[in-house]
Amino acid sequence: MKSLLQKLTGIPGPSGYESEIRAAIRSEIEPLAEEVRVDNLGNLIAIKKGNDPKGQVIMLAAHMDEIGLIATHIDPNGFVRFTTIGGVFPHSSLAGRVHFLNGSQGVIGQETPADINKIPTFDKMFIDIGATSSKDCPVQVGDLAVFDQPFLDLGDRLVSKAMDDRIGVAILIETLQQIDTSPNTLLFVFSTQEEVGVRGASTAAFSLEPDIGIAVDVTRSGDTPKGVKMEVALGKGPAIKVRDSGMISDPRVVDWMVSTAEKAKLPYQIEVLERGSTDARAIQISRAGVPAGCISIPCRYIHSPSEMVDLKDAVNSVRLLVELLNQKITFNQE
Ligand code: CO
Ligand code: ZN
Repeated sequence: MKSLLQKLTGIPGPSGYESEIRAAIRSEIEPLAEEVRVDNLGNLIAIKKGNDPKGQVIMLAAHMDEIGLIATHIDPNGFVRFTTIGGVFPHSSLAGRVHFLNGSQGVIGQETPADINKIPTFDKMFIDIGATSSKDCPVQVGDLAVFDQPFLDLGDRLVSKAMDDRIGVAILIETLQQIDTSPNTLLFVFSTQEEVGVRGASTAAFSLEPDIGIAVDVTRSGDTPKGVKMEVALGKGPAIKVRDSGMISDPRVVDWMVSTAEKAKLPYQIEVLERGSTDARAIQISRAGVPAGCISIPCRYIHSPSEMVDLKDAVNSVRLLVELLNQKITFNQE
């Protein structure tokens, strides 16, 4: 799983420009599913039919896209002004390196600050790609870039850009590999444009009409010095989402996940996230509504060039998903 993750995180795929990462995922899943297709928004969908006519249709979603930057203006000296694709933070961007989809690389610089201790806003920053004039600048307005950082293997702890949500992608690929036959029809959706407002999952959920939805995505953790007050830590197991700022998970889905983890003696944590949301939100409010929940992978330094996860949490997320998906389930609404 480590090498798969290293491969997946290394591929650039800012929101709306997922073709390269989609091709890489497709080559992994093509031999594992009965049907693989791409919809109009670029979502990659792998279908594994259930063996029980009474089985549920379960949509699983992990987003392929990552946060990035987009060039807005090239000045006469070849400096590139930019804005953000998704939730990029000024404090974790400055002096960082970026990689444009056309292959150009550069570093993020800033105008000379009046106060060195103040974090500049993005309009005071620029990307220096080594050009000396707008004419020799290989980057044009509208070109997209992602963070450029090598993958770091610290044992169980792994660090990379785009861990959000390539860790979720790797978990779904691994789950697809481990599921032989299930009573349920499983729709593995590798979604687009999550970071700009769960757009891919919205259209995928509408067209697929699942009975149950599960997103697999990262969540914050509260286990760093003076960190946020949050009962989620790296290495303590998959986090079962109860609430984030975009959704209240369906309590029946939460109970199903908790009881399954208990029975299988898998570690798990309960997640209440104060900021952020996932594809599960889009699935939950699709059409007439879908019971939905989310398995979250605890992650430090989310939306930075160095997002850290614990491999054990990913491995246990796969185990939990396999246990969940192999079950016969029905949710009654009383
Ligand atoms: Co994200
Ligand atoms: Zn994410």
